[in-house]
Amino acid sequence: MNSVEFYSVHWIWNGVLYPQLFGLGWIMIAAAIIGLSTGYFGGIGIPCCSYYWPDLGILCKRRKRPVRVYMDGCFDLMHYGHANALRQAKSLGDILVVGVVSDEEIVANKGPPVLSMEERLILVRGLKWVDEVIANAPYDINEKFMNTLFNDYKIDYIIHGDDPCLLPDGTDAYGLAKRAGRYKQIKRTEGVSSTDIVGRILSSLRAADVDMSQNNSASYQHHNNTEKLQAGTNHTIGPQLSHFLPTSRRIVQFSNGKGPKPDARVVYIDGAFDLFHAGHVEILKSARQLGDFLLVGVYSDQIVSERRGSHPIMHLHERSLSVLACRYVDEVIIGAPWGVTKDMIATFNISLVVHGTISENNHHCEFDPYTIPKSMGIFQMITSPMNITSASVARRIIDNYEAYKKRNMKKKESEDRYYAEKKFVTGD
Ligand SMILES: *[C@@H]1O[C@H](CO)[C@@H](O)[C@H](O)[C@H]1NC(C)=O
Ligand SMILES: *[C@@H]1O[C@H](CO)[C@@H](O)[C@H](O)[C@H]1NC(C)=O
Ligand SMILES: *[C@@H]1O[C@H](CO)[C@@H](O)[C@H](O)[C@H]1NC(C)=O
Ligand SMILES: *[C@@H]1O[C@H](CO)[C@@H](O)[C@H](O)[C@H]1NC(C)=O
Ligand SMILES: *[C@@H]1O[C@H](CO)[C@@H](O)[C@H](O)[C@H]1NC(C)=O
Repeated sequence: MNSVEFYSVHWIWNGVLYPQLFGLGWIMIAAAIIGLSTGYFGGIGIPCCSYYWPDLGILCKRRKRPVRVYMDGCFDLMHYGHANALRQAKSLGDILVVGVVSDEEIVANKGPPVLSMEERLILVRGLKWVDEVIANAPYDINEKFMNTLFNDYKIDYIIHGDDPCLLPDGTDAYGLAKRAGRYKQIKRTEGVSSTDIVGRILSSLRAADVDMSQNNSASYQHHNNTEKLQAGTNHTIGPQLSHFLPTSRRIVQFSNGKGPKPDARVVYIDGAFDLFHAGHVEILKSARQLGDFLLVGVYSDQIVSERRGSHPIMHLHERSLSVLACRYVDEVIIGAPWGVTKDMIATFNISLVVHGTISENNHHCEFDPYTIPKSMGIFQMITSPMNITSASVARRIIDNYEAYKKRNMKKKESEDRYYAEKKFVTGD
């Protein structure tokens, strides 16, 4: 029976795959005969025809085969825009398989990546909408890889955003999938990109440098780079206009929407979570394993500025969305205080407060934010599984500055064009 069901499905695929053989009329007729509703092409799943064809109902009553969708990306500098795209992709199917483009392919197509493959995989696997990951995916979906996706990974649709994705030779990277009729598009809704973030890091560095230059500080190791930056990049990497428009709906979409169950052991961890990276994912995972519900406090921009002496690269709402997108996180306090108070512990029924061994806050400890949980005996230091910090990620970008400058100028042009032509986005 299974084979019959799949046979009919294949038949349709063939119709879509080879429209020149069947012609559009045939596809429509075929669709009508089997009683396909628009839901089929809308990707809801394999349709049940028992309603129209009661005698065939037995064939179709079986459980629907889950729709498997594929989306790929470089995911270099993970941000909530990626997370949202993957959330949208997941909503077009049941199982989301994500291809993470290999380092070599990124170098060839865009310039050196900031994050290693291992770090990018941790970030992608850490997203709550991702079910499976394919490491070292190609940048363009060539015929061979497309067949691997369809045959080995049983992918039904390949998904991509509506931003243009051109190969160096100017052809559409998703052309093949489109011609095969197994391409679906999602609207790119978030006004943030890796390019934008790189620009922000460089401008914050420039701001820091202006303060430093009065003192001619020799300890400022990137001084020379920054001078070049000031001389060479007027508006190519100027202070970025953030396109981010946080809405309450996006926060709801990213949330689990559930509180702790009765008797749940609530674990609390706080931090800035700026430039959300693999180290964050791993520490959140470790923290989650110590209880049943992970509550994350994200410091406000003001607290980060006061404690670190510089503004965070990502704003509070951006940082909160990145944390919320992580599968180990149950709830986020958007703008948590620096010190853990008795009131918070009581309000959220916090059983354990944890802090990682690797943290940018460790330098600035004039007052210990964990005095109260320590006095209550519910504080625990946990070993950070990775030693990356937001500052070390920012430093890598600066160290590769020249390469990024080239990459940024090219990308920024096409992004500016995208925003200039951008239209109203409906739905998600
Ligand atoms: C220069 O540095 C010294 C000590 O390193 C500090 O006392 C002074 O305030 C700094 N001056 C400026 C203008 O930043
Ligand atoms: C800056 O560059 C000059 C030469 O261009 C070099 O002599 C100097 O050591 C550099 N300073 C730093 C802090 O790298
Ligand atoms: C910087 O921008 C100003 C005006 O926007 C322009 O006159 C100047 O030539 C630019 N400098 C460089 C180095 O691009
Ligand atoms: C508070 O957390 C403890 C577990 O640490 C749990 O036993 C208790 O039921 C929780 N209280 C409420 C009101 O949920
Ligand atoms: C971080 O860990 C890597 C390897 O795990 C090591 O090579 C590197 O020196 C460490 N960096 C710091 C700052 O501890």
